[in-house]
Amino acid sequence: MAEPTTTVEQAIEAQAASAAHIGSPLYAHVLEGLLTDLRMGGITAELLEGVSERPVHDALPLRYLASAHRLALAGDAPELARYYPSCGGTWRGENLAREFIAVVHRHRHEFTAGLQRNVQTNEVGRAPVLASAFALIARRQGLPLDVYEIGSSAGLLSRWDQYHYDTGHSQLGDPTSTLRFDAAWWTHPAPPLRGEIRIAQRRGSDIAPIDPSTPQGRLTMMSFVWPDHLERLARLKAALDIAARFPVTIDQADAGDWLNHRLATAPRPGVATIVFHSIVWQYLPQPTRDRVRGALYAAAARARQGAPLFWLRMEPATAAFADVRLTTWPSGSEEVLAQVGYHGADIRWLQRD
Ligand SMILES: C[S@@+](CC[C@H](N)C(=O)[O-])C[C@H]1O[C@@H](n2cnc3c(N)ncnc32)[C@H](O)[C@@H]1O
Repeated sequence: MAEPTTTVEQAIEAQAASAAHIGSPLYAHVLEGLLTDLRMGGITAELLEGVSERPVHDALPLRYLASAHRLALAGDAPELARYYPSCGGTWRGENLAREFIAVVHRHRHEFTAGLQRNVQTNEVGRAPVLASAFALIARRQGLPLDVYEIGSSAGLLSRWDQYHYDTGHSQLGDPTSTLRFDAAWWTHPAPPLRGEIRIAQRRGSDIAPIDPSTPQGRLTMMSFVWPDHLERLARLKAALDIAARFPVTIDQADAGDWLNHRLATAPRPGVATIVFHSIVWQYLPQPTRDRVRGALYAAAARARQGAPLFWLRMEPATAAFADVRLTTWPSGSEEVLAQVGYHGADIRWLQRD
């Protein structure tokens, strides 16, 4: 179905409403100022009009905001950094639109480039619900895991076992990890996280992977988080530090091509093979979705007792939460394991073993 035509003005209005709704008063405020600039035909109109035919879908306002955040984080926009909490600043409701627009005028080239960059986050808050699912599979099977992720971004979720999880009743992951998730992530009753987890192979892929070990990659990831979301930024920084010490191969590839290649000889005997993804499906073109399903079904036909295959995914269910679904082969059974907020909080674990 064709996307309804949208305008840059509608994109900024929608983004301002969304920022107000999900707790970024700073961005809600900046966007209101940018809306005024757009309507007056200022530099916001000059740079954003005509960049995309689908400004809402392409999250054009977020590209604009991230370009400024990137400069502020890099120390090149001190007039914004003094207000952005992510840069050590404090904002008490001052009018920021003037500062923002001054930065745009001074760094026009960076903004023009930034408006071409897809918004890409890698939300490590999704790790607790995914880790709960991996623990369930490991507990049921008692086998080492081959773990393949599609739409990995920087691969921070492929490193889920490098973080620490504590539901208050059971623990999982690296007890020395600097990235820690406590009982507040799960609504009660939380799942048991016991059981030994051995990862035999892990690999990910993304159409545009970000290398978390480079300063540019780190800056890109940080720039897409909202400057007043300090807890998310702290988690992201901790995960990026861990990623720099714990390399994982993330191939640059379309998910459909990559999965067909990876699963050509899977599942292996003596290993539980798991394909997983989170908040990726809506971004895949239909031919890619078909190829992902095709790769899974072809491998599923080879799954046996002792060589099982799993498809684990956290994907949108309603405006408020995502479902975490698991399909298991050879049986072909499908379960909804959990419902969870989009950033990974408020895990409602539904599966009772
Ligand atoms: C919203 S992000 C989610 C990233 C990560 N899974 C997470 O939960 O934080 C969607 C990811 O899908 C990737 N993507 C989009 N189209 C793709 C394709 N055809 N093949 C592989 N990855 C794709 C994007 O580059 C982006 O990193």
